[in-house]
Amino acid sequence: MEAAGPPTQPPAPHPLVAPLSFLLGKWRGEGEGTFPSIVPFRYGEEILFSHHPSKPVISYTQRTWKAASGDPMHAESGYWRPRPDGSVEVVIAQSTGLTEVQTGSYDSEKKTVTLQSELIGNAAKVKQITRAFQVVDGELSYVVQMATITNSLQPHLKALLKRI
Ligand code: HEM
Repeated sequence: MEAAGPPTQPPAPHPLVAPLSFLLGKWRGEGEGTFPSIVPFRYGEEILFSHHPSKPVISYTQRTWKAASGDPMHAESGYWRPRPDGSVEVVIAQSTGLTEVQTGSYDSEKKTVTLQSELIGNAAKVKQITRAFQVVDGELSYVVQMATITNSLQPHLKALLKRI
């Protein structure tokens, strides 16, 4: 029988990913959606931030469902690329067909990330998107704001997720 070895530690993240390691893992929670032109709604959400220590990139997948019925809603996935200058670049493909390139900054002490759209592709109405994330007491919260052809920049989504 093989002797039990020492407890295995998770491998250290890539040095560029390390300052953003507060995001890594699987999160689940609930959010609410608003905008002047729509009926407010509630949703469930799961987010996975994963990475391999050999690559300076975090993989991101998100899916949402209707709070009342569990039926699928919006989903999106992409890549978070921390840069050597301390900024972060994020590319996201949404299930609606919209694509985003976001850039921004993070604060690893405060566990915050703020992003704003540099490029939005294949969008009929959306002009601008901002995303702000924060981890407090092991809970991930975010606010997504958008500007459309008819409404100025304002919140569309707010959510609070726990690590699972
Ligand atoms: C409506 C964009 C994320 C659910 C809308 C509208 C836009 C939009 C442009 C129509 C607003 C109007 O007609 O004035 C976006 C963008 C997102 C996002 C850019 C991400 C950055 C989500 C997510 C959910 C969601 C995550 C679900 C959890 C809805 C619903 C409506 C809506 C239910 C109203 C009904 C509808 O028009 O389909 N969104 N959305 N959205 N969004 Fe989002």
